[in-house]
Amino acid sequence: MASLTVRKLDEALKASLRLRAAKAGRSVEDEVRMILREAAEPQDIKAPSGPARSQPQSHRARAASAADLPRVTLIIGGGIAAYKALDLIRRLKERGIHVRCVMTRAAQQFVTPLTAGALADERCYTDLFDAQSEFDAGHIRLARDTDLIIVAPATADLMAKMAQGQADDLATAILLATNRPVLVAPAMNPLMWANAATKRNVAQLARDGVSFIGPNSGEMAEANEAGVGRMSEPTEIAIAAEAMLHPPHTGPLAGKKILITAGPTHEPIDPVRYIANRSSGKQGFAIAASAAEAGAEVTLISGPVDLDDPAGVRVIRVESARDMLAQVEVALPVDIAIFAAAVADWRVANAGEQKIKKTASGMPPLQLVENPDILATVSKHQQNRPQLVIGFAAETQNLIDNATSKLKRKGCDWIVANDVSPASGVMGGDRNTVHILTRDKAEVAVDSWPMMTKEEVADALVAKIARTIGQQNS
Ligand SMILES: Cc1cc2nc3c(=O)[nH]c(=O)nc-3n(C[C@H](O)[C@H](O)[C@H](O)COP(=O)(O)O)c2cc1C
Repeated sequence: MASLTVRKLDEALKASLRLRAAKAGRSVEDEVRMILREAAEPQDIKAPSGPARSQPQSHRARAASAADLPRVTLIIGGGIAAYKALDLIRRLKERGIHVRCVMTRAAQQFVTPLTAGALADERCYTDLFDAQSEFDAGHIRLARDTDLIIVAPATADLMAKMAQGQADDLATAILLATNRPVLVAPAMNPLMWANAATKRNVAQLARDGVSFIGPNSGEMAEANEAGVGRMSEPTEIAIAAEAMLHPPHTGPLAGKKILITAGPTHEPIDPVRYIANRSSGKQGFAIAASAAEAGAEVTLISGPVDLDDPAGVRVIRVESARDMLAQVEVALPVDIAIFAAAVADWRVANAGEQKIKKTASGMPPLQLVENPDILATVSKHQQNRPQLVIGFAAETQNLIDNATSKLKRKGCDWIVANDVSPASGVMGGDRNTVHILTRDKAEVAVDSWPMMTKEEVADALVAKIARTIGQQNS
């Protein structure tokens, strides 16, 4: 197969190609490819017979013109999780997304540009000073000739460089030169993730408008290491990318970011036992589904539940209250936060690293310490308090009195109070009877709703939120 070097074309032809490419919003290289493809394609491929909708997804993606596909630039950083970026290429492509890969020097220690390029169907870019791609300022083109940039895995080092605005290699130069949305999937050892410097960098990037997915909690590549730091799974990243590429433009909450927590938390006693509660997560999941239908960009952070991800919602699964708070902090800033999770008030201070054994000396003493208060933390957040913060109060007695004092104590805007005594059947059930407590100057107003399904409660709550946000912003 002959190769064509655009650089060697005469100046007039190059100028007209640049103009044509600029008008079409494509790179010069893509424009040349497009011209060649159009010239070479047989007629039946140019005009496919049946409607595209009837074809399976991967077939549809192949049949669509490359220039019509949403485009992602995938920047692969130098961490163990780089191998998962290869699967991410496939997960993006099966969703009909065109992928162009860029690798840092360190990334090439983990996976090869050849593999990434072969999976993406396009060469993988690695070098800022590459004469072949820089004849028309390739790094600027790579930064702009895309609809979304994904950084996966985002190492601690790469995020530090991004937060400081460094541009000493191709990846960081692209990230500094782009005006496109950026989605970052961090992956690192839990201690690196928990380090104050990393936290500062993540907070800075969030303020700069960068979106995050993960990290998740779980086992690390290093033996006997677990915690928050695992890169989100490729499918999770692909779903988040899809949501960013096709944001819903309609609905009363279009353009709003909503954070929702759901489910119980599990607080370990030892590696096999935990303290939990009976929350099923159904109400939080229903609210997430309803908010996504109303056009919001929804992040759902859930404790361990047996529920499928709602359509169009970015779901992050956690175990403990501390994991949940860590993910909530990563998800901020948002416009609206709804804390429906039944977070354990206490955890075991002296949780065993090994399974606690029965001994003749009797029951082991379990010391409890208070968990972080996620609702109060976000309600009183200095930098990133959402416009509307909604808490849930699950009570078994004195429902309205307890919910009223919770509203005042936590500093949130609304409380959704529900009776979770065993007779109510709410915990794990499909119906709910809620009372919405709102602040009315110094007074607290109570709106009591009839018993409804959890989906109906979710729809009514989302409608009330949309009305309130609409009034506040008008
Ligand atoms: C075997 C090995 C695994 C590593 N895994 C990670 C990792 O998962 N996350 C991370 O932040 N750094 C990790 N590092 C350190 C990074 O490779 C190092 O900070 C590098 O400079 C990051 O390069 P980048 O900015 O191109 O991503 C690892 C290093 C080695 C040797």
